Amino acid sequence: MPRTDPASGGTPAGTAAEEQLAVDLAGVSVRYGPAKQPVTVLDAVDLRVRAGEFVVLVGPSGCGKTTLLRVIAGFVRPASGTALVRGAAPRPGRGAGVVFQQPRLFPWRTVGGNLGFALARHGVPRSQRPGRIAELLERVGLPGMGGRRTWELSGGQQQRVALARALAAEPELLLMDEPFAALDALTRERLQEEVRSLAGRLGTTVLFVTHSVEEAVLLGSRVLVMAAGPGRVVTDLAVPLPRDPDTDVAGLRSSAEFARLRGLLAGALLPA
Ligand SMILES: Nc1ncnc2c1ncn2[C@@H]1O[C@H](COP(=O)(O)OP(=O)(O)O)[C@@H](O)[C@H]1O
Ligand SMILES: [Mg+2]
Repeated sequence: MPRTDPASGGTPAGTAAEEQLAVDLAGVSVRYGPAKQPVTVLDAVDLRVRAGEFVVLVGPSGCGKTTLLRVIAGFVRPASGTALVRGAAPRPGRGAGVVFQQPRLFPWRTVGGNLGFALARHGVPRSQRPGRIAELLERVGLPGMGGRRTWELSGGQQQRVALARALAAEPELLLMDEPFAALDALTRERLQEEVRSLAGRLGTTVLFVTHSVEEAVLLGSRVLVMAAGPGRVVTDLAVPLPRDPDTDVAGLRSSAEFARLRGLLAGALLPA
């Protein structure tokens, strides 16, 4: 079975010191449970993500993918090792935008109200919010929908609002935890293509969790395969597919190179 270099992070030696890494985890371990009988959920994970990379995490349920994102978001503090986001310890609400599997919108606010709340928290003055809301809705393909109730929207539309909310704070880092898992296949494909080109246009660094091999290969500039018991990164696969915004994504999906990478990743996901 083909295996690429484990967890090396792919950063060429010599340039690492010059550039500010978007994410730099070194020997990060996370343990849950009582101090007497801790369960090691992540074991000495090293992960280096350069600014502008789109890194996809795949691996069996329970291997610690969500926990890894929570460390980077600053929700979970490692038991050992160091976690840095742009050179500083991660703090919740600072720096990273987060999109979950469920959109988690406030049902008592309109679509615009949900975005306005995020903008306010980000310190955007009230007078500027309507313009920014319109811009964000445009960006995620929901122009003019600010007055709608969130429960009037389809699952895909709600997830677009959740993405717009994450973008409200203009994050340099976007953490997406199986964001399309609950969507129908067509909506999912459309959103994949939009997130792919949006991240490229905005230059946002993305960490994206999925169970779909196809989604991983399409979205990732790099795919990390994790294993469970305890959670660790076992494969680091570069995805050398074109990423410029006017890429023909439908053509890409049916290309031989796409099929080759999909096969490679599927092989890496088989239990050792
Ligand atoms: N707050 C918690 N307390 C105790 N155990 C947890 C907690 N959160 C997650 N776990 C456990 O940690 C492991 C990794 O969980 P998670 O990061 O959610 O994995 P994944 O996202 O890959 O499915 C699982 O075994 C899970 O049961
Ligand atoms: Mg998870």
